[in-house]
Amino acid sequence: MDFKNKVVVVTGGASGIGLACCREFARCRASVALVDRDEKSGRRAVQELRRAGRKAEFFDFDVSKRAQVGAGVAGIVKKFGGIDVLVSNAGIQRYASATTCTEAEWDLVLKVNLKSAFLMSKYVIPAMIKRGGGAIVITGSVQSVAAVANSVHYVVSKHGLLGLARSLALDFARHNIRANCVMPGAIDTPMLRWAVSLGPDPAGALTFCDRMHLRGKMGRPEEVARVIVFLASDLASFITGAAVAVDGGMMVPAGGLATQEGGLPGAKS
Ligand SMILES: NC(=O)c1ccc[n+]([C@@H]2O[C@H](COP(=O)([O-])OP(=O)(O)OC[C@H]3O[C@@H](n4cnc5c(N)ncnc54)[C@H](O)[C@@H]3O)[C@@H](O)[C@H]2O)c1
Repeated sequence: MDFKNKVVVVTGGASGIGLACCREFARCRASVALVDRDEKSGRRAVQELRRAGRKAEFFDFDVSKRAQVGAGVAGIVKKFGGIDVLVSNAGIQRYASATTCTEAEWDLVLKVNLKSAFLMSKYVIPAMIKRGGGAIVITGSVQSVAAVANSVHYVVSKHGLLGLARSLALDFARHNIRANCVMPGAIDTPMLRWAVSLGPDPAGALTFCDRMHLRGKMGRPEEVARVIVFLASDLASFITGAAVAVDGGMMVPAGGLATQEGGLPGAKS
């Protein structure tokens, strides 16, 4: 996969899956626009890429705010001359049910996880059309098609992202733009480490995360990034509007892997 002369925008590029995407795209010779609101980590990541001889630039903005996205995308186009690939990946994790979730938390999660991807698409797509086409990859989750307990706003935001990918695929196919949604399982990133630290037994929670997958280990950020790079590449020219699970088989066992292991007598081999 060769992204020479291609400009790739990655939101949430300073950490976890987004950072792994920046590294993989840069390795494939892309010019990388790393977008994040974490200035320190963003600048550190760009320095790392440049030290390896890659082309990368940090853009410090909040993808959930319309004015910042408009100005930020204009800045990327000015710097690189256009945009070919958008990876809408920035997101946050929160826990609540419909009765415990405050309106403020609901609005925050929907804004950061879902509205951000709409705003980025709104401003990036005209730049892609000028280049004759492009590819969009949105980081959804297994929670784009399934639900985890006590995560109502997160689940709804991730379901919405799959709908957004499908709508973009449909509306902009005639402009030679493809849009797809990747659905990772549990991936070992700072977000996941934060989530497991909320409970009384972080080590036990990590083991639980491992056991959710058929191989008994959670995913690494680069295992998701490689699929995102593939979907953004010409090798994936016939894939659009797709929900692509990158979940180590997490969703294969009906009732969950743990249920299978301790399952009904007839299910034991
Ligand atoms: N880690 C997992 O297990 C997992 C599983 C499925 C899906 N995902 C999704 O993958 C994506 C990346 O998650 P991660 O685990 O790498 O998380 P992470 O916390 O390691 O990285 C997220 C990055 O997004 C940035 N960000 C957050 N809000 C932003 C905003 N408003 N504007 C600009 N930047 C912002 C953060 O500063 C951070 O650098 C998220 O959308 C997440 O929901 C993660």
